[in-house]
Amino acid sequence: MEREAEIPSVATDKDEVDIDAVARDAAASIAAAPSSDALTHIETEVLGKRSVLAKAHRALGKLDPESRREVGRQLHEVRTSLEQQLAARRNELAAAERMIALAADRLDLTEVIPDQVRFPLSRGHLHPVTQARDELEDVFVGMGFEVAEGPEAESDWYNFEALNMPPAHPARGMYDTMYLDIGQPETVLLRTHTSPVQIHLMEEAVRNDSLPIHAVMPGKCFRLDTPDARHLPVFNQIEGLVVDRGITFGDLAGTIQVFTEAYFGPGMQSRLRPAYFPFTEPSAEFEITCTICRGEGCRTCSHTGWVELGGCGMVDPAVFTAVGIDFQVWSGFAFGFGIDRLALMRHEIPDIRSFLENDIRFLSEF
Ligand code: PHE
Repeated sequence: MEREAEIPSVATDKDEVDIDAVARDAAASIAAAPSSDALTHIETEVLGKRSVLAKAHRALGKLDPESRREVGRQLHEVRTSLEQQLAARRNELAAAERMIALAADRLDLTEVIPDQVRFPLSRGHLHPVTQARDELEDVFVGMGFEVAEGPEAESDWYNFEALNMPPAHPARGMYDTMYLDIGQPETVLLRTHTSPVQIHLMEEAVRNDSLPIHAVMPGKCFRLDTPDARHLPVFNQIEGLVVDRGITFGDLAGTIQVFTEAYFGPGMQSRLRPAYFPFTEPSAEFEITCTICRGEGCRTCSHTGWVELGGCGMVDPAVFTAVGIDFQVWSGFAFGFGIDRLALMRHEIPDIRSFLENDIRFLSEF
């Protein structure tokens, strides 16, 4: 209030307030305002109630009528002009501030993060076991085989009985079977090998009258094994089946040798050693040149130069009978081996469990 009392002395005489100078100063600070916030302060300073202009306006009453009109007009002009300058500057600052905010929010989608320069984005790839399966399929397709698949859950008939393992057959003990809680106890199971797919294919060929069969059957198998460096309860096998007229054990041995060289490379040998499987007669285990020492003898092959790959043999007449194929007319051979173990040998991996650990450092090596 005390200040109000001073006003007359500031502005009674028009000469005491240099309106032009006030206008110039105000225009200069408006033009120099660095931000919208600063401009709001400047607006209060130059046009607000306590501004020089406002005070001069309030002092108009003290002037004689003529000067009052003249000074009033000048004050009005200056005020109008400053208001326009304020509005223009406000727009300018708002636009600039919007640009800055936009730039700050901008997402550079072409941005290269330094790590991507050191470790370029790499594409994923198939799991090493899947790669092995694909390569095996390619090799066998190249040899004239078709690729077939069958169910992972099977009845006792397909997994055992039709394969010449009637109930209580001792050979069932070779397979630590996982039974499913479906139907009568121990009637439905997770297949312990891919051999039941042989039965499906032969039944189908009989139904469709479409013999011969030349097929490979890859897929998951299940056994109640405790995982260790060489065993997994879920693993992959590939089965082979040929049923035709006049097939001999020589065809079996030749097929395995051709496969061995096609898959493992020239110079790799295969050999057959007597074995027993209920669904083949005669049966054999087949071995190949040790992939680690190439036959020289090493720890992996127990210094024999050979590693076992799988089982094989001539289809047992009892199996043909089970599916309704005349064993007087048709003969055939079958083989089966583990894909995971093959990949293990091929890549010299010490522990089969590495395949399931999903460690990207391990997987990205293949
Ligand atoms: N199914 C047998 C196993 O898993 C392997 C095999 C297949 C043997 C075909 C002979 C013929 O042990």
